[in-house]
Amino acid sequence: MTRSFLFVPADSERKLSKACDVGADALILDLEDSVAADARPEARLRAREYIAGKDEVWVRINPLDSDDALADLEAVMSSAPSGIVLPKPRSAAVANELSQQLSKLEAQHDIESGSTRILPLCTEHPEAIFTLHSYVGATDRLSGLSWGAEDLSAALGAASNRDANGDWLPTYELARSLCLIAAAAADVAAIDTVFTDFRDDAGLQRYAANARRDGFSGMLAIHPAQVATINAAFLPTTEEIHNAERVVELFDANPGAGTIGMDGKMIDRPHLLQAQRLLDAARNAK
Ligand code: COA
Ligand code: MG
Repeated sequence: MTRSFLFVPADSERKLSKACDVGADALILDLEDSVAADARPEARLRAREYIAGKDEVWVRINPLDSDDALADLEAVMSSAPSGIVLPKPRSAAVANELSQQLSKLEAQHDIESGSTRILPLCTEHPEAIFTLHSYVGATDRLSGLSWGAEDLSAALGAASNRDANGDWLPTYELARSLCLIAAAAADVAAIDTVFTDFRDDAGLQRYAANARRDGFSGMLAIHPAQVATINAAFLPTTEEIHNAERVVELFDANPGAGTIGMDGKMIDRPHLLQAQRLLDAARNAK
């Protein structure tokens, strides 16, 4: 389970050299929005060099319909990145098209066929909001869905995507929920978006705790200081593990029962599934 994906602008030697010591479950070397067009050729070469021989290093390419995307893929695929983060797709058709390109490049570079994963940022394009169902049954490379508010708000012409308290405005809360539900429908991980205020650790703790409560299994990060907080937030707490164990034990002890009382509350099958899922997550994290 990947809890933290740290974005690293691939044009920055300094950030690249820092990134591997930060403890992120995965890195995303960015070739898109955090890299100026002029710096892209150099950034592609740095990314290729950086990825070689490393695990859990992803690349965010440019949108697949841009001239940059193929150059991005051709530059990095020889180093076999773990996966490709796909910005601004209108639907899963774009992920499927990327999958076909990856198949060709994998064959060309002797990389195991189908091993390069895909993580779409599935709400950045306004049209994408209405096509989220297309991820059900899409390419097997799909390993999760994440979302972005910045490109969506720019496309909508919004002056802001957050209210005065820093909480998402309803449009972006909707996009976030739809990403979460689409990921569950497609049976892949839901990864919450970046928390941009990278000095606000308490705010990040709250945000990430809520993300896990809601069903996200990880989150994007933009700064090294965010990684430890995110990694901790996406682990079940000792109390939650204890409770889940009790639920499982109770059902084990009452094999015929569909519903049981625990601490004065009704628990039934969905609670059992939730408890088993939480214990799986706790085991996977070890
Ligand atoms: N990955 C690796 N190292 C990073 C980093 C990152 N994402 N962000 C910052 N660092 C390094 C800095 O280089 C600095 O190292 P140094 O002390 O050796 O110089 C150290 O961490 C502290 O950085 P800090 O001074 O607090 O931040 P900054 O002002 O240099 O950078 C950002 C702030 C937001 C520009 C930077 O965090 C960043 O580039 N984040 C990623 C942006 C991105 O990829 N966006 C696209 C997805 S939304
Ligand atoms: Mg963007």
